[in-house]
Amino acid sequence: MPDIAKLQIGDNSYEFPLVKGSENEVAIDIKTLRGATNGVITIDPGYKNSGSCKSAITFLDGEKGILRYRGYAIEDLAEKADFLEVAYALIFGDLPTKEQLEKFHADIKSKSIVDEDVKKIMDAFPRNAHPMGVLSSLTSALVAFNPSSVNVDSEEEMYNAIVKIMGKFPVLVAWAMRKKQGLPLNYGSKSLGYVENIMKMMFEQPNEEYVANPLIKDALDKLLILHADHEQNCSTSTVRIVGSSHAGLFASLSAGISALWGPLHGGANQAVLEMLEAIKEDGGDTKKYMAKAKDKNDPFRLMGFGHRVYKNFDPRATIIKVAADEVLKDLGIEDPILDIARGLEQEALNDPYFVDRKLYPNVDFYSGIIYRAMGIPVEMFTVMFALGRLPGWIAQWKEMRENKEPIGRPRQIYTGENLRDFVTAENR
Ligand code: CMC
Repeated sequence: MPDIAKLQIGDNSYEFPLVKGSENEVAIDIKTLRGATNGVITIDPGYKNSGSCKSAITFLDGEKGILRYRGYAIEDLAEKADFLEVAYALIFGDLPTKEQLEKFHADIKSKSIVDEDVKKIMDAFPRNAHPMGVLSSLTSALVAFNPSSVNVDSEEEMYNAIVKIMGKFPVLVAWAMRKKQGLPLNYGSKSLGYVENIMKMMFEQPNEEYVANPLIKDALDKLLILHADHEQNCSTSTVRIVGSSHAGLFASLSAGISALWGPLHGGANQAVLEMLEAIKEDGGDTKKYMAKAKDKNDPFRLMGFGHRVYKNFDPRATIIKVAADEVLKDLGIEDPILDIARGLEQEALNDPYFVDRKLYPNVDFYSGIIYRAMGIPVEMFTVMFALGRLPGWIAQWKEMRENKEPIGRPRQIYTGENLRDFVTAENR
């Protein structure tokens, strides 16, 4: 592979260096393009061909279906690690020793109390508010309750901000769900593991002692790991770009939650379940919905299918599909939605429309089925995605600040009116 890319514009030619990643990915470094060419820029809506940064956190090969966090295969992590270890690896670069993990967990627990006044904000939300809106607002509100800015050059201050949000975020998640259900806004217990504690905070009833089902705990651990990072996706790019203005960690995370909410991104898990339910209600006619998804005059898309980067298979979907089967079997649940999902998948995998466009089930196609089996309400599905993605967002924000990346500020090609005369209101 050469080291230089050449660009010809009219009679002028320009050279730009190639940048190579540790897995041999190649990019053309166009930092000097505009200056050298007297104003020419690139345009790439949706950033389909543009890298925004160099990153050492997550490697993804969409053609081969490879996903690794800090060099560790997602299959190994999902099978052998727990969520907190994975969070540590993402944020700090390597899997923790036993002592490092214990300290990390102890520090998180010591910061997990949320100011009681946050409950007054909760009170003001309508009961039927979507929990993603509530979570985004409360994460933003944490800025007001923790106003001191973080000196990103201080390892200690960065660490404290990280353990604070790792401690408080699950409390907000649990409260967002419990508010909807009219349950008391409670706390977990310092004696429990990170994920088990989340389950206690979410599911504990006021009149009985909560005992976590180990099957559900293992499945939740796996789901959170599978969602923990995914390099420069929409919400992560949002977190990085908001943080690039030197906005704080919590403010950047709040913006990331809003980006995740949309149905083309994290909101797809809720949309998938609603779609499967609608197909069931409609008599299970999957062919009708396949036809709608292929009809260019119909805005309907097969939710949970397709991915910007994966063009062969989504390795997370492969793991989740097996997990969905296991969890439902272990819990003794027969969910007709699972059969509809399997049927749709089979039809899509054999349909030229989906095959030609390389559209495969993504991480969200089966995740909702597991969440539902765990007793998590459908509006909470995207919140669960946010809970899993938290360490990835933190890691990416930290990396962006430590690398001293410049403020994110794309350019544009203006297509509006040329200069025209101002016309007073009475003459318009
Ligand atoms: N159903 C029907 N057609 C589709 C779908 C779908 N789910 N996804 C893509 N297409 C078609 C699209 O219409 C286009 O067709 P044509 O070339 O004829 O115009 C072609 O496939 C390429 O689609 P695109 O929208 O240009 O691809 P993209 O990379 O911009 O979008 C996507 C990726 C994930 C937004 C899209 O596939 C989609 O909307 N999927 C459904 C929503 C979903 O499941 N999102 C979750 C993604 S995984 C979780 C996460 O990390 O966010």
